Amino acid sequence: MVTSRYRALDDAFAGYPHRLHYAIKANSTVALVRHLRALGAAADANSGGEIAVAQRAGFTPEDIIFTGVGKTHAELVQAVTLGVKAINAESPGEVARIADIAAAHGRVARVAVRINPDVDAGSHRHISTGLHVNKFGVSIDDARSMIQDMARRPSLQVVGLHVHIGSQVTRSEPLARAADAIADLALSFVGQRVALEHVDLGGGLGIAYEPDQTVVTPADYAAAVLPAVRRTGLTLLLEPGRWIVGPAGVLVGQVVDLKRQPGSRWFVIADAGMTDLIRPALYEAWHGIEPVRPRPGPPVQSDIVGPVCETSDTLGSDRTLSPVEVGDLLAVRDTGAYGAVMASNYNRRPLAAEVVVDRDTWTLVRRRQTVDEMMQLDV
Ligand SMILES: Cc1ncc(COP(=O)(O)O)c(C=O)c1O
Repeated sequence: MVTSRYRALDDAFAGYPHRLHYAIKANSTVALVRHLRALGAAADANSGGEIAVAQRAGFTPEDIIFTGVGKTHAELVQAVTLGVKAINAESPGEVARIADIAAAHGRVARVAVRINPDVDAGSHRHISTGLHVNKFGVSIDDARSMIQDMARRPSLQVVGLHVHIGSQVTRSEPLARAADAIADLALSFVGQRVALEHVDLGGGLGIAYEPDQTVVTPADYAAAVLPAVRRTGLTLLLEPGRWIVGPAGVLVGQVVDLKRQPGSRWFVIADAGMTDLIRPALYEAWHGIEPVRPRPGPPVQSDIVGPVCETSDTLGSDRTLSPVEVGDLLAVRDTGAYGAVMASNYNRRPLAAEVVVDRDTWTLVRRRQTVDEMMQLDV
């Protein structure tokens, strides 16, 4: 599924020079990142650790973009000395730090500016990033002065403009507005000393988690943003994550208990919970849940919960679930993005194993963490 989704998104932009930089944050399992590289993707890394994953997966520095609102000194040294394709700078202070680091290492750092276009992505407030009240990027006016400043610094090369207004964006209109804002800014530099190479529209394309949810398609997405990008004549970069890998993943858990509280619904208690998939607790996200092998009988109104000591450890509430018994397997759908990458050891629960399924074959690509491994860092 990852292969067909990557190709579908790539094909939607086929009429214009572009490159998909897979957002490693969505799912950073090395085997998967390596597969996306083999398909022709480049990489978008959000930390020094993700740059290391990109390298482990075989990406060369020229294929890696480095984004992040709080890059540390060590991470900037890592990116500058590697010579990544672009560091998306998020503040005037960061530009100065990159310039100093590059000068100290005798390098010219390739830098883009992340703009904050003050556009409401219309997604959950925890994953909207393009409003002026959000911590991300700089205003259009600040970007203008930052770029003038960057153009005067010999240790920097200004290569692009970047915008990412949020994740799980389901309508094309905010994406089009962000593209317009970045195109206008790019065009304002024509004839100046700034030779931009690309505009980077970030990620954000949403997926349908709920059965009747309507979500912008790749074709609509391309139709919405390409008119603005064409005006610039610059190469288009995109940083998709969720759309490519989200629907490709399933979290499998086992029912460990069933119980009913007085006057309440049934609780189906699974051995998988918020430590494996935090999206429902964090964003009130909805994921389809179903038994792997449905049993006959009338469905039961249930809350499907995990074993963790938090009431928010609920995978799905008030669901109509076909009957299950202790020991049955449950599948939680669309967990390929922001699932395993956000897992934790809370309650000292070891991380789950990851398996890639390709038609009728399956391969273990990340083994289950052992309890001893979990305690290895304790001194
Ligand atoms: C800068 C940046 N680029 C790309 C992405 C990937 O977004 P998505 O998985 O919604 O496509 C994110 C995630 O929010 C991001 O912060």
